Amino acid sequence: MHTLIGKRIVLGVTGGISAYKAAFLVRLLRKNGANVRVVMTQSATKFVAPLTFQALSEKPVHTELLDLNTETAMGHIELAKWADLILIAPASANFIARYANGFAEDLLSTLCLATGSPVIIAPAMNQQMWRNQATQENLEKINARGITVVGPTAGVQACGDDGPGRMLEPEEIVTYAGNIFQTNILTGSRLLVTAGPTREAIDPVRFLSNRSSGRMGYAVATAAAEAGADVTLISGPVDLAAIGIEKVVYVTSAKEMQESVMQRINNIDIFISAAAVADYSAQKISEQKIKKSDDTFELIMQKNPDILAEVSALYDAPFTVGFAAETENLELNAQTKLHLKNLDMIAANQVDKKLGIDCDENALTIFWKTGREKLPLAPKNKLARSLIKLIALQYNEKNSNKTH
Ligand code: PMT
Repeated sequence: MHTLIGKRIVLGVTGGISAYKAAFLVRLLRKNGANVRVVMTQSATKFVAPLTFQALSEKPVHTELLDLNTETAMGHIELAKWADLILIAPASANFIARYANGFAEDLLSTLCLATGSPVIIAPAMNQQMWRNQATQENLEKINARGITVVGPTAGVQACGDDGPGRMLEPEEIVTYAGNIFQTNILTGSRLLVTAGPTREAIDPVRFLSNRSSGRMGYAVATAAAEAGADVTLISGPVDLAAIGIEKVVYVTSAKEMQESVMQRINNIDIFISAAAVADYSAQKISEQKIKKSDDTFELIMQKNPDILAEVSALYDAPFTVGFAAETENLELNAQTKLHLKNLDMIAANQVDKKLGIDCDENALTIFWKTGREKLPLAPKNKLARSLIKLIALQYNEKNSNKTH
């Protein structure tokens, strides 16, 4: 299931006999490409030893809310921010009661309050406990908050009873976990995304480029594919796998990127320009390797085509989203680009040696003609999903205004 590739999942294990099945769940999630961190409640550790989960996840298991060792490395807030998904399996009746009422007395319940990511719970308990009105009322509260409850199924239970309360099988839980990322908010739309740097040759062995790793653009393309869009990714030279995207075109220079975009733009609904396209290229590429001679060396550069501006100027332009990479005056520069390039939206990021570019995390401020939204520092794949949600909203609004 490609929607789990690279996803960061916190697996919460609470006390119950089916905790042993959570061990298999770790293996399955990892087999599907997810990064898994396990959090256990104290009672879960009575059923299965943390060492089992540590061996299977190849990561330390978290059991304490305030642990001197983990707080310095991956404390509870970091873990909540890190997670793309919190999956609680098995979720006991006691955990469900605490979660429904917003308790934050141990690590797992605290994580559930501290996260902005989706939460799935897979209940498991005795059939009478499941049927109890208190449990059902707690589940109603949880459901009303948009939390996904999967299962339980009915059958013979470990205690000998027969009825509802058996945890879903790990394979089924993995399917639900994968589906949570498949939002389908852009189903039926065709997207073109650019990502990565361009390289501008100066002689047969040398080029000028920038530090873009392609991570932001690739994350946007994957998020768009998960939103159900038909995505084509045009990529500069990077060392990344395109997850969930079938159509990837590799280019090297700005000129090649421009040609590749313009060849495909006709049937495109949304264009997202996340590539760090070189603004200039050498006026003349030396046919032979340039020899070292004088103490200084002059290179005449000429302006490259502005791909984004060219797309937004088309008669039947797609919904056009630019990025602005700024080292100063973020808001002013981004707003200026939004207006000068006549864009529908722009995602502005502050970049420097340690920020935004060539790293895993980023923060974005998104501007459009009538609004703005800040997306605080987060892993790029999380940011990309929030950005795609905003794009889908604005794109649909523009379309509905056109039809009315
Ligand atoms: O790749 P990462 O390491 O993950 O880093 C991500 C990123 C910082 C590269 C990305 O988030 C980002 O900001 N991309 C745009 C970088 C950029 O070129 O910004 P700009 O402000 O110089 O350009 C403004 C817009 O015009 C961009 O959408 C750019 O793609 C586009 N452009 C620029 C020049 C040009 N000749 N043609 C263009 O289409």
